Amino acid sequence: MTEISYQSCIDKLAGERVMLVGGAGFIGHNLALELTSKGIETMIFDNLMFNSLIENVYNNQREAVQAELYRGFLLERFEILRKSPKLTMKNGDARIMTDLARAFHEFKPTKVVHLSAIASAVRARHDPGLCFDLQLVTLRNVLELCRERVGEINQIMLLSSSTVYGDFETPTVTEDTRPQPKGIYANTKYMAERLVRTYCHQHGLGTTIIRPSALYGERCVSQRVSQMFIENALAGKPLRLEGGGDGRLDFTYIADLVDGMVRALALHEGSGISETFNITYGNARTIKDLFDIVKEMVPNAIGVETARAEDKPVRGTLSTAHAEEKLGFKASWSLETGYRRYAEWYIERWDQARQRTLTNSQ
Ligand SMILES: NC(=O)c1ccc[n+]([C@@H]2O[C@H](COP(=O)([O-])OP(=O)(O)OC[C@H]3O[C@@H](n4cnc5c(N)ncnc54)[C@H](O)[C@@H]3O)[C@@H](O)[C@H]2O)c1
Repeated sequence: MTEISYQSCIDKLAGERVMLVGGAGFIGHNLALELTSKGIETMIFDNLMFNSLIENVYNNQREAVQAELYRGFLLERFEILRKSPKLTMKNGDARIMTDLARAFHEFKPTKVVHLSAIASAVRARHDPGLCFDLQLVTLRNVLELCRERVGEINQIMLLSSSTVYGDFETPTVTEDTRPQPKGIYANTKYMAERLVRTYCHQHGLGTTIIRPSALYGERCVSQRVSQMFIENALAGKPLRLEGGGDGRLDFTYIADLVDGMVRALALHEGSGISETFNITYGNARTIKDLFDIVKEMVPNAIGVETARAEDKPVRGTLSTAHAEEKLGFKASWSLETGYRRYAEWYIERWDQARQRTLTNSQ
């Protein structure tokens, strides 16, 4: 592993202006908090159409405590972001070129991170046309605006996904493993990667592709397994262990992903260079391992074994050796430390939301 101090990466980012397209979401707001806390000018450009306050306030299917909890998470995002003088928040739709072009014109970014998507393979499957638009039409607009500004914008970072690998044929994959994406979400991610590389090779854009996996962390409302396990345990609902919970995921704490993204933003070598990094914890764990941690923290959690779904993807570890060598990246939060910290935070917020719900109903 190459030794590169995090502070030296922050120093390299001085004077950069980073625009986050789809930046009000889980990953984007955490990256914005980190960048702005280190004095780096950042713009969030987002139309707030997914996992947003509106969606959460008007979703009648949520139970009272859950609705209160999610509203709290989303408000907390904006409350913290609002305190930063280095942050510009812009409400706009990246599918609409005029919206995005105005933001580029006003902010004059030197780096652009593309995050907009339906960030769930399950939800994307139900709405493939929208998935296509949010991942690829928005990317088309970003790439075209960057192409006109190759001299000013030194890097585009694309948030891709571990799903581009498809069913893992080996326990561990590297960036050189041949992608075999399945389904609309993974295929649009892979198409996005190819478009980004094409703009690099044909138009000289500097590009970085990040492949994260199974993220968890504070203020996430995406309802992935890591969130639903702790939440269902607290709500007294059963936790499903498909096939006994032997499915494996490379669970990654958000702080580790942000660390890797900051390094990849800082250490990129500029125009015409294209790089791809797995940024994960780097060691897949079973769903049963996750359940065991939840059970320790919420002893009355109930696990229910169910049959394994036939189309369930086979996943595993994403090697981070390339990121270790090129970026000096090494994840620090194992499931035992990162998930425990997250779950403690979740339990506290759950109790507060339950209290508020009781008070409101009196
Ligand atoms: N969270 C994970 O575990 C994970 C794993 C792998 C890859 N990713 C990828 O990382 C990216 C960010 O994920 P996230 O977890 O922060 O998702 P998120 O849903 O929390 O954030 C996505 C944001 O994009 C915004 N958006 C969507 N369409 C837009 C449009 N047309 N114009 C402007 N904004 C728009 C949404 O409003 C939302 O705020 C996505 O591309 C996702 O596919 C996430």
